[in-house]
Amino acid sequence: MAFLFNSDPVRGAVFAQAFAREMPDLDFHVAPSPVEPEGIRYLMTWAMPDEIERYTNLEVLFCIGAGVDQFDPARLPDTVKLVRMVEDGIVRMMQEYITLAVLSVHRKLPAYIGQQQQGEWQPLPITSQAPSQRVTVLGLGLLGQAALERLKPFGFQLSGWSRSPREIDDVTCHAGIETLPDLLKQTDILVCLLPLTSETRHFLNADLFARLPRGASLVHAGRGAQLDQAALLAALDSGHLASAFLDVTDPEPLQSDHPLWRQPNVIITPHIASVTQPETAAMAVIDNIRRHRSGEQMIGLVDRQRGY
Ligand code: NDP
Ligand code: OXD
Repeated sequence: MAFLFNSDPVRGAVFAQAFAREMPDLDFHVAPSPVEPEGIRYLMTWAMPDEIERYTNLEVLFCIGAGVDQFDPARLPDTVKLVRMVEDGIVRMMQEYITLAVLSVHRKLPAYIGQQQQGEWQPLPITSQAPSQRVTVLGLGLLGQAALERLKPFGFQLSGWSRSPREIDDVTCHAGIETLPDLLKQTDILVCLLPLTSETRHFLNADLFARLPRGASLVHAGRGAQLDQAALLAALDSGHLASAFLDVTDPEPLQSDHPLWRQPNVIITPHIASVTQPETAAMAVIDNIRRHRSGEQMIGLVDRQRGY
């Protein structure tokens, strides 16, 4: 029974080395490979292969990324475990990105980029200091918590929001949809690190923006479909929102004629906030296979009912 790595072959080569060293008994393949789907016990992939039904002996589907919204659970037999990527490289990169984005909107970088394009040297009114800025992170999972940890030294007033109650040192935590309206009223910089589920699709919409104070900013690194892009454009046009820092859009890539590209006070990056790092990811997957073999719960096991 084999492991099939069905993703970028450069990263596959790093995985192959790690598996040869750490788990030589496992028959490891990088796609395309002549191995028959029936012979695959472990599959690592970003998206479900078309002929997934032919993987009749599949036990674990490892997602190469942290988000699993691209998988249709209905196409996977109940016996197959779906496991998302939980590894240090993704966490560190997301910490860097959220810190970069929060500091950028805090220090009005989107506006200064606009001024630079016009050759305009114009100091904007002095920004509030970090301790008076209220930063709220939507999603207190692995990445939300890690991002908050990195933001602590700057002295922002930090809050977080999740489905179930959490306790995090120096972060005011809120849980459940009923707590959201009050929290939004007290948010200057809103960071979205939610998974995409039926509950979070178009979650960042006109109603949510209207609840933020005038002059608030959005940092979005969850999934593009969580954002109502037209509502964001309207909120920026009206001056209700000051700026947005977006790593994800819908669709990806964003069409070259999409108005968001030319919207003042918006910075867009092409879904690069965080990328699976093959060395650390391979070790995380090997650890999970050891857990699976010994009957322990794997790290990053997806709850298919919840969708994350
Ligand atoms: P986790 O599964 O660890 O955490 C998800 C968090 O969101 C949890 O705190 C969960 O609440 C909360 N949540 C989920 N649904 C709701 C809801 N309906 N209402 C309130 N809270 C909710 O995920 P990660 O932190 O690892 O990753 C988050 C997302 O980041 C990924 O799903 C992916 O979409 C995105 N991502 C983006 C990347 C990029 O490069 N832009 C890279 C990697 C990931 P609870 O704690 O109660 O379960
Ligand atoms: C992920 C991503 O989910 O890169 O890992 O978005």
